Amino acid sequence: MDNLPPNLLIVNAAQVVTPAKEWNLKVIKNGAVAVRDGKIVDIGRTGDVIYRVEPGAETLIIDAAGKIVMPGFVDPHTHLVYAGSRAEEFTLRLQGVPYMEIASRGGGINSTVKATRKASLDDLVDSAKARLARMFAWGTTTAEVKSGYALNHAGELKMLMTIQQLALEQPVELVPTYMGAHEFPPEYQEKRGEYVDLLVKTLIPEIGKKWLAEFCDVFTEKGVFSVDDSRRILEAAKEAGLMLKIHADEIVHLGGAELAAEVGAVSADHLVHVSPEGMDAMKRAGVVPVILPGASFFLNSDFAPARAMIERGLPVALGTDLNPGTCTIESMPIIIGLACLKLKLTPEEAIIASTLNAAKAIRRDSIIGSLEVGKQADMLIMKISDYREIPYRFGVNPVDMVIKKGKLVRQ
Ligand code: NIG
Ligand code: FE
Repeated sequence: MDNLPPNLLIVNAAQVVTPAKEWNLKVIKNGAVAVRDGKIVDIGRTGDVIYRVEPGAETLIIDAAGKIVMPGFVDPHTHLVYAGSRAEEFTLRLQGVPYMEIASRGGGINSTVKATRKASLDDLVDSAKARLARMFAWGTTTAEVKSGYALNHAGELKMLMTIQQLALEQPVELVPTYMGAHEFPPEYQEKRGEYVDLLVKTLIPEIGKKWLAEFCDVFTEKGVFSVDDSRRILEAAKEAGLMLKIHADEIVHLGGAELAAEVGAVSADHLVHVSPEGMDAMKRAGVVPVILPGASFFLNSDFAPARAMIERGLPVALGTDLNPGTCTIESMPIIIGLACLKLKLTPEEAIIASTLNAAKAIRRDSIIGSLEVGKQADMLIMKISDYREIPYRFGVNPVDMVIKKGKLVRQ
């Protein structure tokens, strides 16, 4: 290590907490972290770090006594950009009408499509920016964001451009995903095969050329895209240079997890009704399972078999699924609470699943997701002295300060 002074030095933290190997959460008591040029340059016990690192006149020193320091949360699955509200549908669901039945009556995703098509780019940026500000306040420093609420080419491009503009205007780093296969658009309800052809032959290759998305996702579900449709869509996306994700086995078991393994998807998401064979196939192929307990909670449905996945050695990740139909939760600490209470994850597992494993689900784990020398300094200072307080104080925001790329952005 050279002797240049750090830009930021956090000392005396009750705990510095970071994912280490596998499911091991490392806890450094009376810890410190030093940051220079947006990266972590030292981490350890305060006494050791201040012996190795000498602050300069410009160094910002934060005394984190009584607080914890941990990596920023990574939310690997959101439908953050949309217009309108589905409060009416929510009350229908409370009366017992199932989610998929509402969709088949023309509600559901297609009701948000109607509103999103009408919205201007500025409207979409403004409403999503307000959500992002709240996510950031709850400690999310990186989020994946999907298109899929326009389902025509101009509208999907408008959504992807919204994500691009949001990335420039606020601190949460965004990972864009193209989801033209979120639902069949109203124009193609009677000629669904034509829409799959259009996606495969025209729309996906166009998106690949424009560098507006890193991933392609598809809603593989009974009544939406079949496994065969999804295979064609994902193969076309791979051909176009996009990485792959799947909404798999959310409402019924259809074989989305097996398909994710077959096509080499980075992640398979939801997995409420995944089969043992699907989990085994994911393990063999290195697919990251993304579990979204907020959607199960909001839909009053079953929860994904997270423990069975962990027993198989799968690197379970957690996300919000933030969207207007199946989960309005914006907070990763609330998702961590649900994961402990409903998926039976330990607090240690839930924290790893929402930081390092979530980074794996968006292929960013070499840059973010843990506190290690050389990694990007995306960090949270929490006003709690023990990390287990995150799920325990369910619904309470533990975040004190948010540091993004080494800069103290929120206090
Ligand atoms: O992840 N399941 C498909 N997509 C979303 C729901 C979208 C909506 O209802 O608007 C999900 O649950
Ligand atoms: Fe989703």
